[in-house]
Amino acid sequence: MFRFRRQLGRDSLMRMRRTYAVGCPPAEPRASGCRPSLSPEPNLPVRAQVGGVTEHLTGASRRCDGDGAGNGMRTTPEEQREVLGTPLYDAIGSAYPATRRTEPRIAARIWAALGDARTVLNVGAGTGSYEPADRDVTAVEPSAVMRAQRPAGAAPYVAAAAESLPFADRSFDAAMAVSTVHHWPDPVAGLRELRRVARRVVVFTYDADGAGWRQRFWLTRDYLPEFADLLLGRPSLADLTRAIGGRAEPVPVPWDCADGLFEAYWRRPEAYLDEQVRRAVSVWTRVGPRAERRAVSRLSEDLSSGRWAERNRELVTLDEAELGLRLLVA
Ligand SMILES: C[S@@+](CC[C@H](N)C(=O)[O-])C[C@H]1O[C@@H](n2cnc3c(N)ncnc32)[C@H](O)[C@@H]1O
Repeated sequence: MFRFRRQLGRDSLMRMRRTYAVGCPPAEPRASGCRPSLSPEPNLPVRAQVGGVTEHLTGASRRCDGDGAGNGMRTTPEEQREVLGTPLYDAIGSAYPATRRTEPRIAARIWAALGDARTVLNVGAGTGSYEPADRDVTAVEPSAVMRAQRPAGAAPYVAAAAESLPFADRSFDAAMAVSTVHHWPDPVAGLRELRRVARRVVVFTYDADGAGWRQRFWLTRDYLPEFADLLLGRPSLADLTRAIGGRAEPVPVPWDCADGLFEAYWRRPEAYLDEQVRRAVSVWTRVGPRAERRAVSRLSEDLSSGRWAERNRELVTLDEAELGLRLLVA
């Protein structure tokens, strides 16, 4: 059973069960006696769930259009926040496993940063892509849709959010958070929680501080400037680094990155024309359907006309690119 049962004792665990679902990936409960999830899993088809979010964002965008700002289909930060975090992943999470998986070169960096940690808490764990197989991992994941997709044999999970971790101080050797902090309603509070429950903290995120990032990636620079709207009101990389008292290290994106994250296809631009690729990355849902359609149609035109190749000639010779991805280590 979980290490924290030993640490917190039976009463604490019973109290925790009233608030949090605790379980194992559905197909293969651990030999250690882990129980299946105690929370019901939603059963809506992904199309209907994504449709709901899309409808919400379309409505929000229409409202923006009417305000005379003249900046096209944009959602306000408040409206985007409504579909941040758990509700967003309960809506779009079923599309995730199609292209999202462990990228070994990024995993190697994360696992090295974990040092000699034996017990590891993975917060915002999703389907568990970056969980090291050789350590004692406990996953924290608030979205029932994501939890239900954890593969057989994956680490046991707790249904909770980063901002309020149901663990005693210093319960783990290390806590990690991969491609998730930007989804948390309160990233600084969440990171302080990681700091509280673990002796070491490793966070994989991105740097959009300053103006330079706008020029870094052709996709946001030339086709999807609405990405900037998603950053409004969010803490800077410096704020995040400070919250854990750590340092930031650049992580280059390999040209053939196996994990279909937003930046993964920087040298394979045709991939962004693929609906399945886009549905596995929340940015495309969050910018709203009109911005997405416009970006995809312009990219498609530029690929056909040779304009993209002309503009991005230098990329063909690169094996990896610095696109602002960062490892925070404390
Ligand atoms: C892009 S996925 C990353 C999943 C996994 N870490 C990976 O690298 O594949 C982001 C995850 O963060 C989770 N999440 C959203 N809000 C959260 C919160 N407040 N606390 C913890 N996790 C959260 C989502 O449910 C989703 O599973």
